[in-house]
Amino acid sequence: MKQYQLIGSFKQLLTMHDLPIKGKLNDDDLFVIENAGIVIRDGLVDTVGNFEQLYKKYKNELESVQELEEELVALPGFIDAHTHICSSGSRARDYAMRNGGKSYLEIAKEGGGIWDTVTKTRVASQEILVEGILRRAKRLIENGITTIEVKSGYGLSVEEEYKMLKSIQLANQKTIADLIPTCLAAHIFPKDYDGSITDYLTEISEKLFPKILTENLSNRIDAFIEQEAFSKEIIAPYFQEAKRMGFDLTVHADQFHTSGSEVAIQFGAVSADHLEASTEKEIELLAKSDVIPVALPGASLGLGCNFTPARKLLDAGASLAIASDWNPGSGPMGDLLTQAAILGAFEKLSNAEVLSALTFRAATALKLHDRGRLEKGKFADIVAFPTDHFNEILYHQGQLKPSQVWKHGTQRR
Ligand code: NIG
Ligand code: FE
Repeated sequence: MKQYQLIGSFKQLLTMHDLPIKGKLNDDDLFVIENAGIVIRDGLVDTVGNFEQLYKKYKNELESVQELEEELVALPGFIDAHTHICSSGSRARDYAMRNGGKSYLEIAKEGGGIWDTVTKTRVASQEILVEGILRRAKRLIENGITTIEVKSGYGLSVEEEYKMLKSIQLANQKTIADLIPTCLAAHIFPKDYDGSITDYLTEISEKLFPKILTENLSNRIDAFIEQEAFSKEIIAPYFQEAKRMGFDLTVHADQFHTSGSEVAIQFGAVSADHLEASTEKEIELLAKSDVIPVALPGASLGLGCNFTPARKLLDAGASLAIASDWNPGSGPMGDLLTQAAILGAFEKLSNAEVLSALTFRAATALKLHDRGRLEKGKFADIVAFPTDHFNEILYHQGQLKPSQVWKHGTQRR
């Protein structure tokens, strides 16, 4: 039976094969196949190798051959492991105020900040939210991103968080990208809540968590650990309950002050995201743990603050994923490749480190072991850039766009 599909030839194919989850990487560590082909079966990679040799070997079993006319460098489809693309409304006013010298707190007091987006997201219908997610997902797919994590967190009540998670689920059925939903009901304390912070978290865990599980809305719980959000003491019972119910945890950690990464390590979270404020102490602890640090350069650029200490994390032996944090407040740009390239330039990261942070290390941050490397049995999610050498991809700092993208072996761009 003819069941295989062959795509090629690629000038270079970066499989990300055999690269470790943690620690620093050199470009010499990259496994690069020249004049490469990919054999795909049922949307999964079957074999990678020299195109001509694969053609000869599989000739009689090929259902289709896609011969590429342009010179392309291919790698696993990118994974954006942290976004807030389910939201409504602009925060351009916050941006202008910040750049005019106002502090985060002053802006919040004057009606801006996360609460402003909560207000706008609450009045948006589910249809509008789905439409917004799909519009942003389309842009991400065009930029080579085939898996997108999407958080709730602008609803901040059982009903409104449910509406957000339901919208993400509906959007997931309508886009070719895989949307990985995360419940961020613990984003900030909703100021209209009639009760204490603990009452709010208890209500979410008692009323929303079971619904999330029954309706398969998510298997991930996130919390913003910060002075203006939730403390490590307050979040502990909430995280304990989430863990008991079988959720994976992830944390908005060390963005302005430390303590979030400590919570992430203590609860065995899959990732600790942000880390702009992490010091040597947190870096050491993260390096010793299995928590994946996720840098969000889009938030540093959006807020005009320092980058996550990516170089130090890798040198200490930690892993590193890079995600866009695309959101209307701190991260309005949403261009993952541009942000990753800029982080790489400022933090002195190798191509191997940045590209790993966008592929298999990002997959690990989402606990997904079925993608992120182009090797047997993994998703045939592929991004290809019109160039002859992988050095060119980050060098153009996001201006070299992918010319072809495949999801599960089907061409989508
Ligand atoms: O990841 N840090 C908290 N949450 C988001 C910002 C959300 C917003 O400003 O709307 C973040 O940066
Ligand atoms: Fe975020």
